[in-house]
Amino acid sequence: MNLSEIYKSKLISASEAVKHIKSEDRVVIAHAVGEPKDLVKAMVNNHENYHNVEIVHMVALGPGEYTNSEMKDHFRHNALFIGASTRKAVNERRADFTPCFFSEAPRLFKEGHMPIDVVMLQVSKPDEHGYCSFGTSCDYTKPATENAKLIIAEVNENMPRTFGDNFIHIKDMDYLVETNYPLVELKPSKISDVEKAIGMNCAKLIEDGSTLQLGIGSIPDAVLMFLKDKKDLGIHSEMISDGVVDLYNEGVITNKRKTLHKDKMIVTFLMGTKKLYDFVDNNPEVELYPVDYVNDPKVIMQNYKMVSINSCIQVDLMGQVVSETIGTKQFSGVGGQVDYVRGSSMAEGGKSILAMPSTAAKGKISRIVSCLDKGAAVTTTRNDVQYIVTEYGIADLRGKSLRERAELLINIAHPDFKEQLRKEYDELI
Ligand code: COA
Repeated sequence: MNLSEIYKSKLISASEAVKHIKSEDRVVIAHAVGEPKDLVKAMVNNHENYHNVEIVHMVALGPGEYTNSEMKDHFRHNALFIGASTRKAVNERRADFTPCFFSEAPRLFKEGHMPIDVVMLQVSKPDEHGYCSFGTSCDYTKPATENAKLIIAEVNENMPRTFGDNFIHIKDMDYLVETNYPLVELKPSKISDVEKAIGMNCAKLIEDGSTLQLGIGSIPDAVLMFLKDKKDLGIHSEMISDGVVDLYNEGVITNKRKTLHKDKMIVTFLMGTKKLYDFVDNNPEVELYPVDYVNDPKVIMQNYKMVSINSCIQVDLMGQVVSETIGTKQFSGVGGQVDYVRGSSMAEGGKSILAMPSTAAKGKISRIVSCLDKGAAVTTTRNDVQYIVTEYGIADLRGKSLRERAELLINIAHPDFKEQLRKEYDELI
């Protein structure tokens, strides 16, 4: 068969494709923007025919209907990271959460900790050689296709063709479903004055020629706002969003001084608006690799002046950082935070920054605390932590004693809580 015949032989409707999922199967859904909306919808519509299908996913941008309480006999969600659509189910114990560094997700599939029956994903249209790109989501999605018994892909004509170790041949997929819906877009968030002050403080730590990792959300966007006068920045990041496109167009991001993948932006997934998706389409300056490469601290550390910037929820006076729980409630997951904290700390001239507003709950709660909330999970340990940044300043905790750390952290706490923190610190001994 020629390529066109192979392609046609695999075409099927979404409702037919999901009939190949069986009760008790483990189904991996592609990450973030790569989630195949029509297949997920068809699977949920077909729920009566399944019992106990396990759905493994990380950042779920769809409605997550498989976590609804009426679905409990049909689906059990196992989250490696949770977001808005899956948080309630996890915290009501109708869904599971499995702690896992993002860099290690592919290992779960490869080494048999989580054998995969079915993977469902989106790909770009095939090129003249029969290769489809994973588009916005290489991350754990490509490794999942290498370890699944059955691969069902939506071929979405709006999925950009992106480069890197990021292709799959049509002959290696079992069923193909043609789609043409627009990709999910995450609009840039509105940046508050507090976030601007945090962004300005983070920017003070970024030197010309640095390679950056930035997460998503208003704090990373605020940091980008204050980088316009920097020179020759590079990108080696779990993900990028629209803000990076602006800085690239302004000539601030050049990737020229990178010591690994010079002249290229290296990422494992993309999440933004059409502006980002158009920018990466057929753009050889942006390369995606699986997350066990991009987020491997041994790879990250090869970038000279690597700076990672991530966000957190709570920090105690020893510098223990909570980024994924609020008390006993699971809020998100470790994602790539520790991968980048470690990789950038090991890099020559590297820095790791964890940034947060000094307060939560409209100023009622200090995020800097004498003791962590009961049940909170430490994401970045006091041994790994380096810079903590709030709107009130920068605390460099590396090489500092516990006494010095407490002092530095109280200095960047909100003024309303400083006295209370000092008192609580004195009472700790
Ligand atoms: N006590 C009580 N509530 C708190 C709190 C605290 N210490 N800290 C935050 N909250 C509440 C906030 O008030 C907010 O509630 P609201 O939505 O009702 O206003 C909610 O929790 C979310 O906090 P916010 O700081 O706005 O979250 P965010 O969307 O900026 O995300 C993290 C911050 C830390 C949760 C997110 O960055 C994350 O998941 N990090 C871990 C993964 C990671 O770093 N990945 C690497 C790069 S992608």
